[in-house]
Amino acid sequence: MPNGNIIIKNASELVTCSGFKAKCGADMSDLHVIENGAVVIRNGIIEAVGPSARALEGVRESEFAVIDATGRAVLPGFVDSHTHLVFGGYRAEEFGWRLRGDSYMEIMQRGGGIVNTVTATRKASRQELMATGLQRLDSMLSLGVTTVEGKSGYGLDRDTEIKQLEVMRDLGRAHPVDVVPTFLGAHAVPDQYKGREDAFIDFMISDVLPPAAADGLAEFCDVFCEKGVFSVDQSRRLLMKARELGLKLKLHADEIVRLGGAELAAELGAVSADHLLQASDEGIDRLASAGVVATLLPGTAFSLREPYARARDMIDRGCAVALATDFNPGSCFTESIPLIAALATLHMGIRTEEAITALTINGAAALDRADAIGSLDVGKRGDVIVLEFPSYHFIPYHIGVSTVEKVIKGGQLVFQKTAAKETT
Ligand code: NIG
Ligand code: FE
Repeated sequence: MPNGNIIIKNASELVTCSGFKAKCGADMSDLHVIENGAVVIRNGIIEAVGPSARALEGVRESEFAVIDATGRAVLPGFVDSHTHLVFGGYRAEEFGWRLRGDSYMEIMQRGGGIVNTVTATRKASRQELMATGLQRLDSMLSLGVTTVEGKSGYGLDRDTEIKQLEVMRDLGRAHPVDVVPTFLGAHAVPDQYKGREDAFIDFMISDVLPPAAADGLAEFCDVFCEKGVFSVDQSRRLLMKARELGLKLKLHADEIVRLGGAELAAELGAVSADHLLQASDEGIDRLASAGVVATLLPGTAFSLREPYARARDMIDRGCAVALATDFNPGSCFTESIPLIAALATLHMGIRTEEAITALTINGAAALDRADAIGSLDVGKRGDVIVLEFPSYHFIPYHIGVSTVEKVIKGGQLVFQKTAAKETT
């Protein structure tokens, strides 16, 4: 049978997350679940979705690989829409410093933090970055992630920023997980530009942004808009230039200090504003009315012991909320989707249905791909996960442990859990 032809049938819950755009407010609760459902994928694209008998009507099963998902929930693959997955070195010692009371920003201001990873990433060869990148993608895939966003930002110079972006492009070609590349050259202020942040933004605009935007190497431009890093005006200047060069926009907004990053994201029509731990009511309302996806990263709040973003208020005020890991070597060294689901539901007032929406169709919307991935709808890519449990409720309930048994990417089985689930 041709690659990319697969049927998944008899799912106790087929959680379709049906939709082709970001889901806002109350719509986030509707997962469009089909009992005893099936999905038919031909040549990597979803051809039919529905109750098993109906979806399989007239389908010649001999042309397909067939997965019997009896007793299992089936969902779209997760979209991890905010990570920093390509970097050299680790910062385990920094975790210890934070436990002793240093804050993330204090460590950064005394020359540690992101800048340490910059030194290690500048030194790392492409082969080294590929090798660790592939291992990280393997781990993400095993947790049910079928599309991941990755940011540069550990170069802060031309060559390393471009190296990171090229490694992301090569990772996406070499691995089943799709990698969406974001240019984050304005992620920290390198030593020689301390106190001359405007000059650093000028340098990014003249020397680094053009090659990053060329030939689709980066799809998005992001900036760390934060007190002591880049101001709202500096962020605006960089992002407007990025938009002129055809990049779509994201922001690290209102993460540690309420600076007005959410408002800037709305003003510029960014695709997403991310973190938002300190976003104001006004900022939240502007995100909702401008249709900017609010991407929340509870792993970072947990790891930095900062207050969580006000997810409940955001949803109730009509925002489209996405959830992502923020996987990076400093503020949040985890790729664990199950941990994110548990934190979001237990600590942010997000309901399980909303969390699933935030990890699927709204994650896709945060990457401007809600038309192509993030739900089980006819015409979308056949990116599907099969759980080892009968209901999506097990995702946050099995705290910090993956419930994913199989991952299908573009109609091909690309991950199969070997350990058996617990028996009851
Ligand atoms: O999203 N805040 C800025 N950037 C990352 C952390 C990067 C790092 O510490 O290496 C974040 O939290
Ligand atoms: Fe981040």
